[in-house]
Amino acid sequence: MARKKVALIGGGQIGGVMAQLFASRGLADVVLFDIVEGLPQGKTLDIAEASRIDRFDMKLKGTNEYKDIDNADIVIITAGLPRKPGMSREDLLTTNAKIMTSVANGVKEHAPNSIVIIVSNPLDTMVTLFQKISGFPTQRVIGQAGVLDSSRFSSFIAWELGVSVMDVNAMVLGGHGDTMVPLVRYANVNGVPIMELLERKYNDKAKAQEVMDAMVTRTKKAGGEVVGLLKTGSAFYSPASAATTMATAILLDQRRVLPCSVYLNGEFGVEGYFVGVPAILGENGVEGVLELSLNDKRRRTSRV
Ligand code: APR
Repeated sequence: MARKKVALIGGGQIGGVMAQLFASRGLADVVLFDIVEGLPQGKTLDIAEASRIDRFDMKLKGTNEYKDIDNADIVIITAGLPRKPGMSREDLLTTNAKIMTSVANGVKEHAPNSIVIIVSNPLDTMVTLFQKISGFPTQRVIGQAGVLDSSRFSSFIAWELGVSVMDVNAMVLGGHGDTMVPLVRYANVNGVPIMELLERKYNDKAKAQEVMDAMVTRTKKAGGEVVGLLKTGSAFYSPASAATTMATAILLDQRRVLPCSVYLNGEFGVEGYFVGVPAILGENGVEGVLELSLNDKRRRTSRV
């Protein structure tokens, strides 16, 4: 069986970390593409030179030419500007839309059968734009937002309760920005609802609600919190992990249920938009959407 090939479009912070994750986990051969000459070549060389230490033998190639992504099974797009302090994801729109247009044309020409994961912000707009320009079937176009937002929410819950984050299950749906919706009612530690644990901890319903509200707010602003600390760019380790996890579900046909931005065909009463919902990811890309009941407030804020 031929090895799988992953093409990473954008060899910046997120692209570089992903290249290392795919190679060192033995998931796929990696092509790292960027318009800056030398950048993807230097990063892939650096990662490859650690292969003896970390014991992997995946092939890594850095390139400035689209022909090198030929026949990629999965394409992950991070090309575009990241945020600086004080910027919203929407502030990136004009520049990143131009970049996404050129990337979509390159991917359409050279990897027409690939499954595409988009990370560039503003996420929901970039996913829609990519799909429109490429004309790819919607099943093969997926946006990364919810996996990261849910991981952030889960981390805050674990830190608050003093339990391992591995036992926390929490999901964030909706958009990647102010319209994201952390699902409080469904959040749990190995099945035990978070609100119940908070009420037990504080022995005070109002205080428990206050603590939960603060975690929800921190989740919504978590990207900005990292930007504020880094000052020169936005989060990259966690977005790289999130997109790699989505790609792994597809490469290994895991049918994992991961919150991501997918095109809705009537699910949640929405037709014709990309929205962050729990999606089943497998070898064909989006294999299905898991519907769940949301109360009216959640439905309005998330537009689902
Ligand atoms: N084609 C390919 N790559 C491009 C193009 C293009 N047309 N234009 C810019 N790039 C490259 C840049 O040269 C840079 O190396 O995209 C890379 C982006 O990397 P970073 O600036 O380090 O940004 P990163 O932190 O990786 O974030 C990328 O993901 O989460 C989002 O908001 C974030 O939109 C940003 C994107």
